[in-house]
Amino acid sequence: MSDANLNLGNLDACEDPFALFAQWFEAARAREINDPEAMTLATVDADGLPDARMVLCKGVEAGGLVFYSNVESAKGRQIEARPKAAALFHWKSLRRQARFRGPVSLIDEAAADLYFHSRPRQSQIGAWASQQSRALESRAALEALTAEYQQRFGDDEIPRPPYWRGFRLEADEVELWADGAFRLHDRVRFARAAHGWTRRRLFP
Ligand SMILES: Cc1cc2nc3c(=O)[nH]c(=O)nc-3n(C[C@H](O)[C@H](O)[C@H](O)COP(=O)(O)O)c2cc1C
Repeated sequence: MSDANLNLGNLDACEDPFALFAQWFEAARAREINDPEAMTLATVDADGLPDARMVLCKGVEAGGLVFYSNVESAKGRQIEARPKAAALFHWKSLRRQARFRGPVSLIDEAAADLYFHSRPRQSQIGAWASQQSRALESRAALEALTAEYQQRFGDDEIPRPPYWRGFRLEADEVELWADGAFRLHDRVRFARAAHGWTRRRLFP
């Protein structure tokens, strides 16, 4: 798809960051060579030390970003103790970034069930086999566990592991950033207000 066919909207006229973000996300899906949904998720550990890793954003709804993970993972425990996070998208092909900050909560189990069962069967088995973030003795041990679960479930429907959940980052702050010539980038910071959003342009 050529740049001319990409609809990236108008950051100057934007009043609702989620509306423009949805346009950028759609353009990224058309343009990125892989993982347009990938975002860096930053959390904070018990010592106040930041931590970050990629996750896939599987839903953008009502001012929030949805991702799925293991509540017993490092990120899951960090979020449980300090339920706030930041998320960052950088789409290299679009030369744009989008930043989000706010509280994180678990989404209901029915929504997690729905998404879990939409995933390939091998990924569902992988969710059972992976004790995410805990020490793993060898690659062979993971493969053995995968084979064990494969056998255990046979052709049956695979239940969602209870620790595998959906999380929602409710954005109180959003920053949309678009690359400009000679580092004169466009940056607009949005903050959630009683009705809608306030917006402020920032030096790049
Ligand atoms: C492109 C990409 C997408 C990923 N998506 C997810 C995801 O949606 N959920 C997840 O739990 N881990 C995902 N991972 C793996 C995480 O980056 C990370 O390794 C894992 O969640 C353990 O992180 P933690 O120990 O900080 O909890 C992804 C990794 C990459 C590179």
